[in-house]
Amino acid sequence: MIIAIDGPAASGKGTIARRLAAHFGLPHLDTGLLYRGVGRIMLDRGFPLDNVEIATAIAENLDIADLAGEALRTREAGEAASVVAAHAPVRQALLDLQRAFAAQTGGAVLDGRDIGTVIAPDAPAKLFVTASPEERARRRFRELVGRGELADEEAFYAAVLADIAKRDARDSGRSSAPLIIAPDALVLDTTTLGIEEAFAAALAAVESARR
Ligand code: DC
Repeated sequence: MIIAIDGPAASGKGTIARRLAAHFGLPHLDTGLLYRGVGRIMLDRGFPLDNVEIATAIAENLDIADLAGEALRTREAGEAASVVAAHAPVRQALLDLQRAFAAQTGGAVLDGRDIGTVIAPDAPAKLFVTASPEERARRRFRELVGRGELADEEAFYAAVLADIAKRDARDSGRSSAPLIIAPDALVLDTTTLGIEEAFAAALAAVESARR
């Protein structure tokens, strides 16, 4: 069983994906980490993010085993990820690895922006997890503050909200595999839901898709 979960930044899709994977005992791939990994290496080595050739070469040599650590979770890495993810050859370089992960015997859970549309269009269970931009900014803000990424609180919230708006526009507006709702996906709006409620709704959707 393949469970495909898409949605914008800080929608709660990662938490839901992890919880579903644990519930069903399936392997889970956070595909945002692949783009964050490419973006992080570009930043660390001082390459301009619009250099498609270099970004593609890095994507081709990316090792899933290296994708851990706090440096991938920063605002800067998320922003860089969104920029390199708009390059079609970078997406192409990461395609086989994601399809192979999805094709594991027994199934898998993948979350990202194009799982239900491009990576696993035949997945029986597809969720599109979303929430209002303000609520997503609050969640991302709390997460970043918890990690010590903080200057002046009020200005920081405004900056995080601006990041979210910019990322939504870039991820949805690009020509290569934009963030769109697959026609057969169930839309789960988590704006007013706590984690337990959101997970229960996601689980119910997956259970009914399996029947
Ligand atoms: O989910 P995230 O915030 O870790 O993703 C970071 C960026 O990576 C996101 O802004 C767009 C890109 N991305 C993508 O284009 N396709 C995916 N399947 C996952 C992430």
